[in-house]
Amino acid sequence: VCVTNNCVIADDEKGHDLDLFCVPRHYESDLDKVIIPHGLIMDRTERLARDIIQDMGGHHIVALCVLKGGYKFFADLLDYIKVLNHNSDKSVPLTVDFIRVKSYCNDKSTNSVRVIGGDELSTLSGKDIVETGRTMQTLLSLLSECNPKMVKVVSLLVKRTPRSSGYRPDYIGFEVPDAFLVGYALDYNEYFRDLSHICILNDQAKEKYKV
Ligand code: IMP
Ligand code: MG
Repeated sequence: VCVTNNCVIADDEKGHDLDLFCVPRHYESDLDKVIIPHGLIMDRTERLARDIIQDMGGHHIVALCVLKGGYKFFADLLDYIKVLNHNSDKSVPLTVDFIRVKSYCNDKSTNSVRVIGGDELSTLSGKDIVETGRTMQTLLSLLSECNPKMVKVVSLLVKRTPRSSGYRPDYIGFEVPDAFLVGYALDYNEYFRDLSHICILNDQAKEKYKV
């Protein structure tokens, strides 16, 4: 079901069998289900691009990618924004920047959020997933020190979890169940970024790749 501003993936969503899609052999035994196929991610991202361009008016956008997990979403979102810029009367100049944050070990948030990089922290940020919201809130308070005209947060995923601080990004791709998800640049201890679909990791794999 799609509600007003994001697509909700229900808690009882069964997903799709792995054999119905192409999944790298080396991950076949680590995954339970494909929860968001790559094509659906792309279709939703195309629409987010349209909504963003509509709302931004003529403002220059500094698109800030939150690495590493946001890199696929960021690249694809910007490609769609570029297509709109190429083909419509209304277009906005776009520059890019990159920042790296790290807060996770295994499938748990650690209490520290480390931030590396970024030289011109200004307008729009693109992110992989918001769970508790702590990473994004830390980043937003850092960004506010640069006095940007406006900051809009675009996150592909937001998790429904009792651990949430209540923080909601400005644009959300999908609202997802409280499970550990991998693929499309989301990792478990650096593995699974090289998987196109968003999948649920099984418990065996959590042990296998534990650090
Ligand atoms: P938060 O600070 O609790 O909102 O966590 C956000 C960060 O935790 C994301 O940028 C990811 O790096 C990581 N994370 C949270 N949930 C997941 C997940 O299901 N899969 C992979 N990474 C996750
Ligand atoms: Mg990670």
